[in-house]
Amino acid sequence: MRRKIVAGNWKMNGSKDLAQTLVSDVRSQAASLDNGVEVVIIPPAIYVGEVAANAGDLLSVGVQNVGQWASGAYTGEISAEMARDQGCQYALVGHSERRQIFGETDEMVAEKVGRIVAGGLYAVVCVGETLEEREAGKAESVVAAQVRNGLAAVSADQWRQVVVAYEPVWAIGTGKTATAQDAQAMHASIRKVLSEIGAPADEISLLYGGSVKADNAAALFAEPDIDGGLIGGASLIAQDFISICRSVPAGT
Ligand code: PGA
Repeated sequence: MRRKIVAGNWKMNGSKDLAQTLVSDVRSQAASLDNGVEVVIIPPAIYVGEVAANAGDLLSVGVQNVGQWASGAYTGEISAEMARDQGCQYALVGHSERRQIFGETDEMVAEKVGRIVAGGLYAVVCVGETLEEREAGKAESVVAAQVRNGLAAVSADQWRQVVVAYEPVWAIGTGKTATAQDAQAMHASIRKVLSEIGAPADEISLLYGGSVKADNAAALFAEPDIDGGLIGGASLIAQDFISICRSVPAGT
C-alpha cells in the first residue's frame, strides 16, 4: 500500500507564534485521524526547529528547499544534512516558485534530490506545467521531462525516499484547481513515466497540489492515483488543514 501524505507548505509565511499555536492545534487534532495519513508541516527553514519541537510523534516536518551542495561557502543556503539535524524527515524540491523566481533547473533539482535522499530524507519533487504549456497541449510532455530529469540521479535503493507532487502552475494560489479527472489523468501519466525510468511506480506516493481546500480535497483524494496533497494557503489555518487531512480515504 502506498503512503498517504498531506503536507502543508507555508511558503514565506508564518511566525514563531504560528509555529507554536498552529502546530499544537494540528497535533492535537491529528490524534483523532484514523485514515493512516501522514501529516507533514513545511515551514520556513528558520522555524523548522520550533515546529519540530512542537510536532510530537504525530506530525512530520520538512524544509521548502535545500542547496545542491553538501556544505561550504554558499551564503544563505541550508543543506539536507542540516534539515535532518533539525528534526526534518522531508524536503521539497523543484517547487514552481523555486523554478520560476529562483531559476531552479531540472539539473539543479536532480542534484538536490541526490543530496536529500543521501541525507536520509524524503524528497517531495514538485512538477507541473504552466497554463501556456497546457493550452498548447504540452502538459504531459513537460511534466514527463521534469520527472525524468529531476529523478535522473535516484538509485534503485533510494526510490522509497521519493514522493512526486504534481502542481499545475496555473492552479497554485489562484483558487483554480485541476478537476479531479484531469489531475488523475496526469498522475496516471506520471506513474507510467516512473515505471519507464525503472522506478517501482506503484509504490511511489503522488501528491496533488494547487488550490486544494477543505471543500475540494475529498474529490481529488478519491482518485486512484492521487495519494494525498501538497497544500499552500489552506495549511496556514489549522481547521482547514486538518479537514483536508481528514479527506484522505482510509485504507486505499
Ligand atoms: P496553494 O499552494 O495551495 O496555495 O495553491 C500549493 C503549493 O504551492 O504547494
